Amino acid sequence: MPPIPSKLGCFRLIISSVCDMGIRLVGGFVFGAALLAASPSFAVDWDKVAGKDVVLFYPGQLSWEALLTQSEHSGADKFREGKNCRQCHEGEEAASGKLLVADKSSEREPIAGKPGSIKATIKTAHDAENIFIRLDFDPGQQPDAGMEPKFPVMAAVMIDDGKVAEVARGGCYALCHDNMMRMPGAKAGVDVTKYLSRSRVKMSRSGGDEIKPADQLDKLRADGNVVEYWQARLAPGVVPVVVDGDVLDKRQEHKSSAVTATSSEAGGKWSVVFSRKLVAGAPYKDLSPGKAYTVGFAVHAGHTAHRFHYVSLEKTLAIDQGAADFLVVRN
Ligand code: HEC
Repeated sequence: MPPIPSKLGCFRLIISSVCDMGIRLVGGFVFGAALLAASPSFAVDWDKVAGKDVVLFYPGQLSWEALLTQSEHSGADKFREGKNCRQCHEGEEAASGKLLVADKSSEREPIAGKPGSIKATIKTAHDAENIFIRLDFDPGQQPDAGMEPKFPVMAAVMIDDGKVAEVARGGCYALCHDNMMRMPGAKAGVDVTKYLSRSRVKMSRSGGDEIKPADQLDKLRADGNVVEYWQARLAPGVVPVVVDGDVLDKRQEHKSSAVTATSSEAGGKWSVVFSRKLVAGAPYKDLSPGKAYTVGFAVHAGHTAHRFHYVSLEKTLAIDQGAADFLVVRN
């Protein structure tokens, strides 16, 4: 198997600079109102931004390697010949999720009653200095999976700037390998997180076990061979906990986070606004006009963790100019 790209997935977070709780009445007192002004998201006039609906579907345990094996996935050969995932699957996400969430052949530990997909409305904007990515979604009736006690919901964004070709073609799936923890080829006692195929000495149907030596990884990293991710952990009325990081040989959280997020919840509906500087300095990817970016979105709902999330197909993003699913313009 040629070195194949890898997929999207999971996360953890840490920082949150701002709070968007707004005004909450607790025991007759008003809390939180003063925090609003601190939030960068309030600089954006979201009414002026058209939203795009993206269906996030439950991916089951289908790994990148399974998807690239024709006997296991009938799109494999065509994908290798150049057809991207979305060219066959866009519009079918809800049907795929419904199948994958309950089918024992693609999900060995199904969560009873879990919906197969959710819809997110996504808006983007910038203010010349910062980018804002907003996700509005309603997880609906979710069974409590009891995996993540504190945060019933988590939202994440993954970004590549064209350095990782397989991400442009296969989105999050390019980071999701067969030998990762809780995947079909997981080995007991080895917690493998998301990684890129290029970080491995060789890849096979079961992924890649042997990681390249540190000097080679350093060079790959210095050349930008990483996928960036942002995650916000959410609970009603609580300031979101935000982390960012990147993926090369593993999912690695940055020590401090350049990304901030605000969130609000009403009647089960969530609104999350991520933000960071367009140019945040290394190790973040510069977000510059005229370049093509691939983004993937993920939501954990119903107190799930790890791979038990909803994901999008690969989507494109551009700043100011260009053809993309999300053209980010100044607000
Ligand atoms: C040439 C079209 C084609 C391409 C390209 C393709 N697929 Fe598929 N895919 C299919 C077909 C047809 C099925 C159903 C039959 C099967 O499972 O083999 C399927 C099944 C699936 C399933 C199982 C759920 C379902 O709806 O049956 C997933 C998930 C999936 N594909 C993801 C992907 C991803 C991710 C990529 C890109 C890496 C991709 N596919 C590329 C055609 C394609």
